[in-house]
Amino acid sequence: MQPSLTEELTSVPNPYPIRSEIEYPDVWRLCEQARDLAWNPVAIDFSDLRDADLPAEVREAGAEWWSLRAWMEHGAISYGAERLREAIYGHQPFEIKQHIVNFIAEELRHHEASFLIAKGLAGYQDEPRADYFKAVIPRFHDERDEKAMSFFAGLAVNTLFEQLSGELLQARYENARFVSVRTACQLILRDEARHIQFGRIIMRRFFDDLSSDDRRLLGEKFAKKLRGSLLNGVYAVVNLPDAERQRAGHNRALAAEYGLGATHPDDEIAIIKRGVDKIREDIAPYNVEIPTIPEIDHVSAMH
Ligand SMILES: [Fe+2]
Ligand SMILES: [Fe+2]
Repeated sequence: MQPSLTEELTSVPNPYPIRSEIEYPDVWRLCEQARDLAWNPVAIDFSDLRDADLPAEVREAGAEWWSLRAWMEHGAISYGAERLREAIYGHQPFEIKQHIVNFIAEELRHHEASFLIAKGLAGYQDEPRADYFKAVIPRFHDERDEKAMSFFAGLAVNTLFEQLSGELLQARYENARFVSVRTACQLILRDEARHIQFGRIIMRRFFDDLSSDDRRLLGEKFAKKLRGSLLNGVYAVVNLPDAERQRAGHNRALAAEYGLGATHPDDEIAIIKRGVDKIREDIAPYNVEIPTIPEIDHVSAMH
């Protein structure tokens, strides 16, 4: 039998109507800004990293850190591809598709800028060295969670995370002592600001009409993703198994100490807590509530 016959066939739904009228001018404005603010990671001069007098252990730690960042940015691309398919077959207007296409391109250049930083330090690692990370990273995003929500509610969960990673990235930008890393962080932040802005537009436009199920799911999915994935070594190291937490935490502290654009593990939870509190404030008017997250809400009880 031909291999193609044994594969599951992806159905191609009816693409029509393919709409052209702009329905959301505020989203369209973001699309135009994206065109004006395009940048090229290859144009950043990373020789300051290559020429720097850094101990080998620090270079390794920095390369590991920026490789992890690169894998995470890469995860956003597959996520975006799923959303683009939904937008196309959900017959969303042009500007929604354009924004998602921009999102994918922008996450891809964040990925590129991150692996270029790793290359300037001690080389990009194209897969995690720790078995634990290798197993857990592919599970960070669960499409079933996404599909349980309406299109815009799902997009909203993601943009809430963009807001949180923006807070962390800001701290990493402030930590960066190398011009190349600072520049990369700054340009990534500028893109993220637009992704966050998209989230605010969604909230303003769609949150009043969310079903009570969607409202509840939104808060629950946010908490689930934060605890199950992002506190597992990505945003912070708190939920890592002991040995890996020590190893990853040590390396991350080292990268932060030398100003490679990292956050010290001891500072991460406070930043996340501040970020989540701000998000809670933003979504409270829409009756969306993020359940208690013990790792950040009960910090003092844990020590
Ligand atoms: Fe990104
Ligand atoms: Fe983003």
